[in-house]
Amino acid sequence: MSATEVNPTDTAAEQSGMNLTLRIWRQADAADRGSLHTYEVSGISQDMSFLEMLDVLNEQLNANGEEPIAFDSDCREGICGTCSLMINGEPHGPEVTTTCQLHMRSFKDGETITIEPWRASAFPVIKDLVVDRGAFDRIIQSGGFISANTGSAPEANSVPVPRDKAMRAFNVATCIGCGACVAACPNGSASLFLGAKITHLGELPQGQPERWDRVVDMVGQHDYEGFGGCTNIGECAAACPKEIPLDVISQLNKDLRTAMKHGH
Ligand code: SF4
Ligand code: FES
Repeated sequence: MSATEVNPTDTAAEQSGMNLTLRIWRQADAADRGSLHTYEVSGISQDMSFLEMLDVLNEQLNANGEEPIAFDSDCREGICGTCSLMINGEPHGPEVTTTCQLHMRSFKDGETITIEPWRASAFPVIKDLVVDRGAFDRIIQSGGFISANTGSAPEANSVPVPRDKAMRAFNVATCIGCGACVAACPNGSASLFLGAKITHLGELPQGQPERWDRVVDMVGQHDYEGFGGCTNIGECAAACPKEIPLDVISQLNKDLRTAMKHGH
């Protein structure tokens, strides 16, 4: 079909909304085995976000006296990283974005969509599509910070930061801790997340005093939480909605080697 031709199926779907079959993971709690359940939704606008489509389904379930699907969301603006769903086997679905910023125009009328929670032993399922990502918080608590003295704020220009280092730190600081990298990795590794945090603080002068303890402590916590090791597959970077580059993992390994060499 040429670019100027109109698909009659698409036009009909734009007018009346799409009909979709949803296969959704339902799990009562962490102890439940869980299984996929099938639901039909209709009248879905192509301009809806994926989460708005799930809202429509939940209103339908509520109206029928059925238990709504539990799923996480907060900002719905691609900032907080809570809206983590596996959609048709891909973390956050078919576009390079977060689930809340994914729109229904990425799907076709009549399509069957399979929706599951993140699959990683370090992210146990709490209910339906909600997983516990507390392991990420504990990794940050173990070293993903800088210490600053209390008192008046220092003059910002008194600590010069070279432009290339500032840009690199800004770019990797865009990691929102969504966990898509872990869900995409066959080893369930959080190395991309860890690399982003280590690189962000390691590029800046403010991150230097705790740099070597930070990498040892954060990697130790990562392993303790049950995340797997990195074997350079690269699925993490391909799935990352913030396009964190794979080379942050090289930086992570380099910092870890240096820290261990100096007895940290
Ligand atoms: S590195 Fe990317 S995929 Fe992993 S937690 Fe950060 S934003 Fe999400
Ligand atoms: S709900 Fe906050 S990033 Fe999607």
